[in-house]
This record gives sequence, C-alpha cells and structure tokens, in this order.
Amino acid sequence: MAETKKHLLLVEDETPLRQALAERLREHGFDVEQAESGEQAIEQLAEFAFDIVVTDLRLPGLDGTRVLEAALLRYPDIVGIIVTGYGTVKDAVEAIKRGATDFVTKPFQFDELLHALNSALEKRGLKAENAYLRSQLQQRYKFEGLIGRSPAMRALFQLLETVSASASTILVTGETGTGKEVVARAIHHNSPRRAQRFVALNCGAIPETLLEAELFGHVRGAFTGAIGTRQGRLEQAHKGTLFLDEVGTMSAAMQMKLLRVLQEREFERIGDSHTIKVDVRVVAATNSDLQKMVAEGTFREDLYYRLNIIPIHLPPLRERKEDIPLLVQHFLKKFSAPEPAVVGIRPNPTRGAESEGRSLSISQQAMRCLMGYPWPGNVRQLENAIERAVALSGGRQQIETSDLTPDIQQASQAAAAPDINLPEGGIDFEGYINRIEHDLIRRALEKTGGNKGQASKLLNLKRTTLVEKLKRLEPRIES
Ligand SMILES: Nc1ncnc2c1ncn2[C@@H]1O[C@H](COP(=O)(O)OP(=O)(O)OP(=O)(O)O)[C@@H](O)[C@H]1O
Ligand SMILES: [Mg+2]
Repeated sequence: MAETKKHLLLVEDETPLRQALAERLREHGFDVEQAESGEQAIEQLAEFAFDIVVTDLRLPGLDGTRVLEAALLRYPDIVGIIVTGYGTVKDAVEAIKRGATDFVTKPFQFDELLHALNSALEKRGLKAENAYLRSQLQQRYKFEGLIGRSPAMRALFQLLETVSASASTILVTGETGTGKEVVARAIHHNSPRRAQRFVALNCGAIPETLLEAELFGHVRGAFTGAIGTRQGRLEQAHKGTLFLDEVGTMSAAMQMKLLRVLQEREFERIGDSHTIKVDVRVVAATNSDLQKMVAEGTFREDLYYRLNIIPIHLPPLRERKEDIPLLVQHFLKKFSAPEPAVVGIRPNPTRGAESEGRSLSISQQAMRCLMGYPWPGNVRQLENAIERAVALSGGRQQIETSDLTPDIQQASQAAAAPDINLPEGGIDFEGYINRIEHDLIRRALEKTGGNKGQASKLLNLKRTTLVEKLKRLEPRIES
C-alpha cells in the first residue's frame, strides 16, 4: 500500500496568498489542507496526522508558535516550517529551538519554500528526539496513568480530582478497554484512603457461590470445603476502596446482599451471625447497560441508584481520536523500554541518550491508520496493536504501516479523500457527498448483516448519527 503523497497543512490568514501557495504545492505533489487561523489549524491537527505543517508566524488569535507547539506535542516527528515576515526572524529562530525544522522569510520565492520542504523531509528520518517536548507531553496530559487530552478526558480529570476526595459510591461505565479499572485505581490513589488497600473483585469471573464467599468471607465449616475461617474482600478493604468489576453480572440474590452492604455498611461472614461493620468506599464498573437491565427487570432499581451516586462514563476511543497520538507515544515508550541495567555496570555518561533505550517513532502514515481505525476494543486494543508493532519493527527506528494488522492498515484509505476529477461543468456538491455517505453506510450495513450498532462502529460514527443519516438518505426505509 504505497502512499507517496505527503499530507501538508498550510496555515496562513491572507487568503489569496494561501490559495496561491496551496495551488503550487499541489502541483508539486503535496496533498494540501488549508487553515486560515491558528485555532482552525489546531482543530485540524487533532483530527488528522499531517506529515508537514507550514505556518505563518503572525496570525490573528493563536500564532504560528502555538500551532507548531500543538503539532509537535501530538506528533513529535512532524515537519514544521515557519513562514515569517521582517522583524519576526528572532521568533522564528526561537521556534526552531522548540522543534520547528526550518523557516522562510517573507517575501519568498516558491522555490525557497519547496527547497526547505524537501530538505526537511530528507532530514526527518535523522531528527533527534526532542527531550524537552517529550517531558512536557508527560506532565500535562496525565492523571495517575490515565492519558488523554480530548475535552472528554480533561473533563474526566477534573471530575476525578473532585470525587476522589469524597467517600461516595461511584459507578464507572464504558465499553470494554476504555480504562474503567485504571479510573477506579486513580480514584483510590487520589483519595484520602490511598494509604489503605485497594481491593478488586471481578464479579463476572467467579461462580455465584464462590462470589458470596469472596465478598463476605466465611467461618470454618460454613459450607463443604470451608476448612478455616476466611476474611472476605469487604473486610480486607476496610478503610480503603473496594472495586466491584462487572457488577452487571450479579444474580438477583447477590444484588440483594450487596444492596444491604451499601445501605448499612454491615454484613455477616457466611455461617456466622456476628455482624461486622466496615468503612469502605465502593467503586463499581460495568460495560453492560444497567439502565436497560433495570427496565428489563434483570437489575434491581434500588441497587442501581445506590451504585450510581456518582456516574462516570468513559467514551469509546473512536469518539476521542485526538487522544490516539498521545496514547501511541505512551505505549511506544512502554514497549520499547530497555532491559533493566545489569547491577554494577553504570551506563556510560557520554552515551546518555542510548542508555535510555531505543527511541522509537512512528510514521505519519501509520499514525493515520491508527487514527482512522474504529477500535472496537478501545485503548486495550490500541495498546496490543502497538506492542505487536514494536515487536515486528525489529531494529528499526520507526514503526511503519506494515507493522500493523491488515484491518488497521486499511483504515487510512477510508480517512483519505478519493481522487476526484472536477469536470468543467462543476458538480452537485451536496448530491455527491450524499452519494458517498449513502454508499459507505450501505456497505457497512451489508458487511454487518444490517446491524446498525456494528455498522456505526465500522464507520466511526455514533449509532444515533448513523440512524439520522439513514433517515435523511433513505426516507422510505424504516430505521
Ligand atoms: N486513558 C488511558 N491511558 C493509558 N492507558 C489506558 C487508558 N485507558 C486504558 N488504558 C489501558 O488499556 C488497558 C485496558 O484498560 P482497563 O482494564 O482499565 O479497561 P476496562 O474498561 O476495565 O475494560 P474491560 O471492560 O474489558 O474490563 C489497560 O492496559 C490500561 O492500562
Ligand atoms: Mg476492566
């Protein structure tokens, strides 16, 4: 799957100049997107992994330095070219120090820009790691092992900050792999209970009879096989946090018992009449739709309200794909970590960078694939994909598209617009776009046997959006 065209984002507020430049760059084989302000550029960068950003330094609102900073934070290997006027050369030099590849001064000949672009692209493979930016990356967008910078994740960090301090019960919901357990641990580690235990119990993984004994403990002879007296998880979590994973799988009987614990904060060990009082903070998690289960009568409504005192919902990764580059950097680092140093042998100080281990980057084309893929298994699946890619990359410095699985490789094709020839007479824009939408939706539905939920995942759309589009495009079809 050879992709030769480089994707370039051109940021310039003077429209005639921008359009003329875009035109010429296209003639030279670049795939050009335009932005007329810094704000707009940053939005476009969040959505798409460009190879190059060419930005004017002086822009109304956010200036070129900020655009560059945002670009490099997401994609440390992006090529950044600054266009600067008289009097701002000093700022351009400053931008170079911060990671821009080159600059051109206005007024310039188009060839100067082209030359800067070509030599930057050549050099890129050799570009050294920018330690300053990498360390910034780690500090700003992290909360106890949770990575993210999308509005949803920032809102989550803020919420976690506040709710961690309280002792209220929390219900964490979200699809598989969205980070529910990481969130539960983050809550504990930020709470006044952090010095006590975080005890996890996966309600879905244990048969019901054992689950009860796990939770409440038992006394000797309480049931066949109860040889000694054992503390349950509730007792172990006294003064700490109890994480109840997959609460949606509990039987009716267990639901009732759990309800009592939540209401009274007391229970008995199995086979014992002595009542034990505990002080635990409960964080529950589920990937089932408890509200629906309540409506269907399979989950107790009173228990639902007891658990859902503070709801925290984790959106699927496909709805916050601007987090993908950051997560990718994080996992690249994790999986390319060096073997622990042999005791007694000090790393050679002159070889500082190498002793930190292999510094792996990822091609922008591979990044586009990762950003275009719908990730039904969310962050866990992304993590696995990066682990696999690192293993396949052998001794190379850069992860390539070929290190990804075929289905992920194909995702960048969907993200790039097809080559369209504009006829002399022009086209019916709305009609054309509608046909493309219609065609994609029809194919997704065919592929999933008409399942709208799965089809919307394939298309990286919310289910409701797909249904709306269907209604608009095929008003006669029931949806
Ligand atoms: N925001 C994040 N930043 C960094 N790592 C994350 C993030 N979210 C999830 N992960 C990683 O993804 C993996 C899955 O996370 P976790 O086990 O918390 O998911 P989950 O929602 O509990 O999934 P399941 O419903 O399948 O149990 C873990 O390895 C976790 O470290
Ligand atoms: Mg989990």
